[in-house]
Amino acid sequence: CGIVGYIGKRDVAPLLLEGLQRLEYRGYDSAGIAIHAKGTGKAAGGLKTAKAKGRVRELESRLPKRFAGTAGIAHTRWATHGAPTDENAHPHVDTEGKVAVVHNGIIDNADELRAKLTADGVEFVSETDTEVLAHLIGRSQAPTLEEQVREALRVIEGTYGIAVLHADFPERIVVARNGSPVVLGIGEKEMFVSSDVAALVSHTRQVVTLDDGEMATLKADDYRTYTTEGSHTSAQPTTVEWEAESYDMGGHDTYMHKEICEQADAVDRVLRGRIDDRFSTVHLGGLNLDPREARAIRRVKILGCGTSYHAGQIGAQMIEELARIPSDAEPASEFRYRNPVVDPDTLYIAVSQSGETYDVLAAVQELKRKGARVLGVVNVVGSAIARETHGGVYVHAGPEVCVVSTKCFTNTVVAFGLLALHLGRIRDLSVADGKRIIEGLRKLPGQIQEILELEDEVKKLAAEYADAKSMMFIGRVRGYPVAREASLKLKEISYIHAEAYPASELKHGPLALIEPAMPTVAIVPDDDLLEKNRAAMEEIKARSGRILAVAHQKQDKADHTIVVPKNENELDPILMGIPLQLLAYHVALAMGRDIDKPRNLAKSVTVE
Ligand code: G6P
Repeated sequence: CGIVGYIGKRDVAPLLLEGLQRLEYRGYDSAGIAIHAKGTGKAAGGLKTAKAKGRVRELESRLPKRFAGTAGIAHTRWATHGAPTDENAHPHVDTEGKVAVVHNGIIDNADELRAKLTADGVEFVSETDTEVLAHLIGRSQAPTLEEQVREALRVIEGTYGIAVLHADFPERIVVARNGSPVVLGIGEKEMFVSSDVAALVSHTRQVVTLDDGEMATLKADDYRTYTTEGSHTSAQPTTVEWEAESYDMGGHDTYMHKEICEQADAVDRVLRGRIDDRFSTVHLGGLNLDPREARAIRRVKILGCGTSYHAGQIGAQMIEELARIPSDAEPASEFRYRNPVVDPDTLYIAVSQSGETYDVLAAVQELKRKGARVLGVVNVVGSAIARETHGGVYVHAGPEVCVVSTKCFTNTVVAFGLLALHLGRIRDLSVADGKRIIEGLRKLPGQIQEILELEDEVKKLAAEYADAKSMMFIGRVRGYPVAREASLKLKEISYIHAEAYPASELKHGPLALIEPAMPTVAIVPDDDLLEKNRAAMEEIKARSGRILAVAHQKQDKADHTIVVPKNENELDPILMGIPLQLLAYHVALAMGRDIDKPRNLAKSVTVE
């Protein structure tokens, strides 16, 4: 979900709509706005709200003619409690219509509080947990809005990022954070608030990120921060590095296409300034792990969700191969619920594009509670996971807007390559191997560009495969996580059912699915498993399956081959998935899908 708010001199509704559009990738099943209404005489004052199921443009078309004001809050939603309907859209208001609240997160004791309020005669109009907050604030007798909000927060359990408007306090917006991001944007005689810098950067680069347990009051020419207990905090503004332009589509039809095409530059950025030719290693300034500690690591456990989990799987293989440390990746959500043994000799690494994914953040907090050392491989600078971890590697992919991850996946895997090389070189990776990997890393941007030039060819192939009801993706060892990620990408944006299997497992079950209507995409790197992969393709051919191979040379067993440039064996997985991003893209495009905003998904899942 996304929050945006403004207080200043400008007409607020267009500003909020623009902010919502920038946040739409975080949730897009309903949207809404509340403002302090401007007017004279009897029409003056009071709150006005407008909400609509569907996209922001739906809300825009429904805004009443008279909807002027200079302070307001808005929200775009990804439903958790209650279906996406007009009523369930935020902002939620209290019975008298004096308080409006927008909220990200989940209130765990909402049912209990709702029952209590209902017993007191409150009538609820939505099924959301957030409405409870609006009523609690509205019923508070405290003299200031800050205290009213504080009182309400005291009785709720759960996570929140909230912004509150109150008809009786038209000169302020009160915001609070616990587990769901809130960022203030500091302007000239105007203040902004959002759950994401994406909505702020076209107005100001000066931001203040609230900590958990922190609140703020925004007035047009002033802001102050304090804890939920009321004591003053001195949060200082920092400057955001990302330019507003990098949030624009830059001439592409979709963000996904733009982000796929940016990958050569993105990889160049993650490498920049980090390679140390003198010692055939890399510098990772934020790692916060001295060589003695690095040598004492006996295992590496990588935690992430979705695409970041797949990047972690490739990362684990790189670390195991180059640094010879037993490594694996696991979905963060599963890890934290199985009461894992937390071992002091294990290095834990949390991977996240947004740095906000709740399951990953919660796993980090659980690990820290048990005394573990946790590093982050994160894209968004200063995000919750980046701040919560002991150190880490920033991925520097730049802002990623499309819900499905492409450039950030690639950059994350490259960042793991750097980390693996670094750990290897302080353990037992040779100078020669260090040099070999560095040369491979340096080749990546050019090779990515070569792959992107295959787009027309991939587009033709997509037309051939777009009729599939179901697709199989196979690979072995280094190729297997590539197959998994490619399969995820296809299903996320085209809604074609896809399965990924290690090629070696085919004969133990999935071969039963193979028939002409279920094509297979095979990842076939030119490495020690080439012959084995050929044998797997042979098995499929014998069952009349169609095969599209991604390989370093043309495959005679396949119906089609996308030939990609060869790098070092360890780094090949970085490149082999890229044509399959284009394949998923063109299949989805041919099917007329909403590529940047696939149904039922959101970019950042800040709830459990
Ligand atoms: C959501 C997105 C996925 C993403 C995952 C993890 O489910 O739809 O594309 O991979 O979250 O996000 P993160 O920001 O932690 O990498």
